[in-house]
Amino acid sequence: MEEYRGLHERISALKEERDAVILAHNYQIGPVQDVADLVGDSLELSRAAASMDCEVIVFCGVDFMAETAAILSPKKMVLLPAPDACCPMAEMVTAGEVRLLRERYPDAAVVAYVNTTAEVKAESDICCTSANAVKVVESLHEDQVIFVPDRNLALYVARFSKKEILPWEGYCIVHDRFTPADVRAAREKHPEAEVIVHPECRPEVIDLADGVFSTSGIIRHACTGEGKEFIIGTEVGILHRLGQECPGKWCYPLSEMAVCVNMKKTDLQKVCTALERLEPRITVPEEVARRARTAIDRMLAVK
Ligand code: 13P
Ligand code: SF4
Repeated sequence: MEEYRGLHERISALKEERDAVILAHNYQIGPVQDVADLVGDSLELSRAAASMDCEVIVFCGVDFMAETAAILSPKKMVLLPAPDACCPMAEMVTAGEVRLLRERYPDAAVVAYVNTTAEVKAESDICCTSANAVKVVESLHEDQVIFVPDRNLALYVARFSKKEILPWEGYCIVHDRFTPADVRAAREKHPEAEVIVHPECRPEVIDLADGVFSTSGIIRHACTGEGKEFIIGTEVGILHRLGQECPGKWCYPLSEMAVCVNMKKTDLQKVCTALERLEPRITVPEEVARRARTAIDRMLAVK
């Protein structure tokens, strides 16, 4: 506890010295969330990276999130305290594959989930996150949409759109593991609870859910909804904020095993070291960043 407090104080002092802001995703470990200036979902963190007034952004999340921050804030220094924190789903589609898809479907728009590399974003027309995927697809004038890389999010969007959605076969190794049997078992254990899940879940899990939201959407729904008990179908790190921000509500994980190991690679020591050494630094080659930014900016303009 003493060591934890010491690190906390050292990080606060360094933050001031470096004119730094700490952004953390909702899946980060509790102590990292507690030291952050903002904890949020991918969309909230992207907006913050674009608008915050500071010299340095310490991104506590995975690589594509830090890359997005670097693309949106080319003048700021973006640090990723755990440089090996990646998103396996983001590696499931390459820029070359997107170019081949474009050749095959020349009339289709390409929507890239923000969980992609900067190179893939650069080949896409527009990005989306789990919070705005339906709105982004509906904002396009094309009737055919290539959606990469998450097939589950693509199929979720297709429920609300008349457009022809062509899903790529990528998936999140954490969310794709939830099963209808998990939902049935959790409902049996907590019969009064609402089941709220992330749209990266499989369609057969979504069919059984009462609500589908981004990570921050899940928190908002649990905090402000009428219900008292919730079964949460996403990564377990979200329970930290739910515990802090939803007093009087009971939130149970759909599975205790829903852990994204990459999101757990950041700890307070690494945050402190990153601020001391001003590395590991995330940069994106200028030409890739320029094209990727067009796709991200188009997403941020969707109301
Ligand atoms: P959110 O944008 O909903 O926070 O999701 C990010 C993510 O990686 C989900 O697995
Ligand atoms: Fe990627 Fe899934 Fe981890 Fe989110 S939970 S960062 S989609 S592997």
